[in-house]
Amino acid sequence: MAAVQESLPNELQLAVDAHVKYIQSLDTQKDDFNYWLTEHLRLNGVYWGLTALHLLGHPDALPRAETIDFVLSCQHDNGGFGAAPGHDAHMLSTVSAVQILVMIDALDDLEKRGKGIAKVGKFIADLQSRETGTFAGDEWGEEDTRFLYGALNALSLLGLLHLVDVDKAVQHVAACANFDGGYGVCPGAESHSGQIFTCVAALAIAGRLDLVEKDKLGRWLSERQLPSGGLNGRPEKDEDVCYSWWVLSSLEIIGRAHWIDRQKLVDFILRCQDVELGGISDRPGDMVDVWHTLFGITGLSLLGYPGLEPVDPVYCLPKKTIQRVLGK
Ligand code: FPP
Ligand code: ZN
Repeated sequence: MAAVQESLPNELQLAVDAHVKYIQSLDTQKDDFNYWLTEHLRLNGVYWGLTALHLLGHPDALPRAETIDFVLSCQHDNGGFGAAPGHDAHMLSTVSAVQILVMIDALDDLEKRGKGIAKVGKFIADLQSRETGTFAGDEWGEEDTRFLYGALNALSLLGLLHLVDVDKAVQHVAACANFDGGYGVCPGAESHSGQIFTCVAALAIAGRLDLVEKDKLGRWLSERQLPSGGLNGRPEKDEDVCYSWWVLSSLEIIGRAHWIDRQKLVDFILRCQDVELGGISDRPGDMVDVWHTLFGITGLSLLGYPGLEPVDPVYCLPKKTIQRVLGK
């Protein structure tokens, strides 16, 4: 396979070095107005960039000690993490913090220098609704299956799943299922590939994939591939690189990842790269960003692209990490 890759023109190969440099450069652009515009995403951004670097085979491309210091500086007394120092604690940034610390094997630092693992677990568990079993993003109460998935993801990595009512959470996911086999953001909402990933991955963590209508869902997901090879999130929408992850990881979890044209998707993702300055965009010719860079790379990893570390389709972390932490 390596020999075949070497004979391909630039735009048909993954520009690994350029992507590593692009991700490294994100932290040095502090004078850039966009850096401040995206402050509400900072901790998530570190998770997206660092996961991409691990999958690219460059896990040490960001300084480990500074990464840990930054993550811990975002933690509140209640155990939750904000997106940046001084920002309110939120489920998604807390999940990103856990994923980063687990990926770089730094839970000891959380225990010794942070507020401790138990407090993180309590922050997450307190966001579960006793009535519906789902989770809010923060104390203000907005509910979304993204938060439910994030909670099960982080708690299972911390070995604290027993802090929540998993059966009740599963019942909520089951209530989000639609006639087409997909899932929406809440009961009654239309199927959306991002939400399908959160629901299917949550059921995988809960050990309840028996609830998924796999053939029906597999058919709906595989219909997301457009003539360009790219995948969309819902019928009638444009293709977008990030759905290479939301759709394909869901197909992988239900054992139907061979139901799409894999080579056409590889080619589509590669066409979305900036081969000179690095980074991947949502579709060819658009501006790159770290979110689409991660999900282009995770998509290629699921597709078995040569040289990439395998990604876990449920946790969106390197398989190596999941093997080390969960032993599977
Ligand atoms: C579509 O985003 C994606 C979703 C609705 C799912 C997002 C899930 C999380 C953030 C949970 C945490 C995820 C991981 C991998 C740990 P969008 O429609 O806003 O994207 P787009 O605008 O680029 O299409
Ligand atoms: Zn996108």
